[in-house]
Amino acid sequence: MVDLKFLGHSCFMLSDGDKSVIIDPFLTGNPQAGATAGDIKVDAVLLTHGHGDHAGDGITIAKDNDALVIAPFELATYCERQGCKVHPMHIGGGYRFDFGHVKLTQAWHGSAIMDGDIPFYTGNPCGIVLTMGGKIVYHAGDTGLFGDMKLIGELNDIDCALLPIGDNFTMGIKDALYGLKLIDPKFVVPMHYNTFPVIEADPEEFSAGAKDLGYECRIMEPGDSTQV
Ligand code: NI
Ligand code: MN
Repeated sequence: MVDLKFLGHSCFMLSDGDKSVIIDPFLTGNPQAGATAGDIKVDAVLLTHGHGDHAGDGITIAKDNDALVIAPFELATYCERQGCKVHPMHIGGGYRFDFGHVKLTQAWHGSAIMDGDIPFYTGNPCGIVLTMGGKIVYHAGDTGLFGDMKLIGELNDIDCALLPIGDNFTMGIKDALYGLKLIDPKFVVPMHYNTFPVIEADPEEFSAGAKDLGYECRIMEPGDSTQV
């Protein structure tokens, strides 16, 4: 059993009652954030890519908690230079940590941290397959639809899929519903929508589409928790 808490945009905290991790902590500057960075207590910070609405408060939270940053190699290297403890990984690689197992997947997107108005390239973006508390959660990161979501679903008995639906930068609702079929999880939670006007999307429309396909969809508001 693992507790899944949504903190807005693509940020989730997972806890098995002993260890806690946070994925893509974009809290400062997110008007819909479900927590403030200073209140976060975690053992590890998992980052899918370097964009500000994902890496966000990651470095601050990692330093405040003396927590490990787990990220794609180039992004981990950037965080290490900022003084973080890091564990670099890359696409297709898995590793067992004390809180659980992390495997990085592909994601079709970009990855950079802005240093002023200059982008600092942080390698390939990723998705994350996290096994924790005996459950498997797939956080797709920011990505367009790709056919190998079928492989991710076939190789992992996914309990919960966290999928972007906001369109423009990532999958929209139609593509996310197609991806849902490929991943075939026990339930899905939509993310990466309505934070900014350009990614407005109706989660009820996604939920209805998921239901038509035979999948449970749990729409979460920032601050909501659910059991996986
Ligand atoms: Ni992004
Ligand atoms: Mn994003």
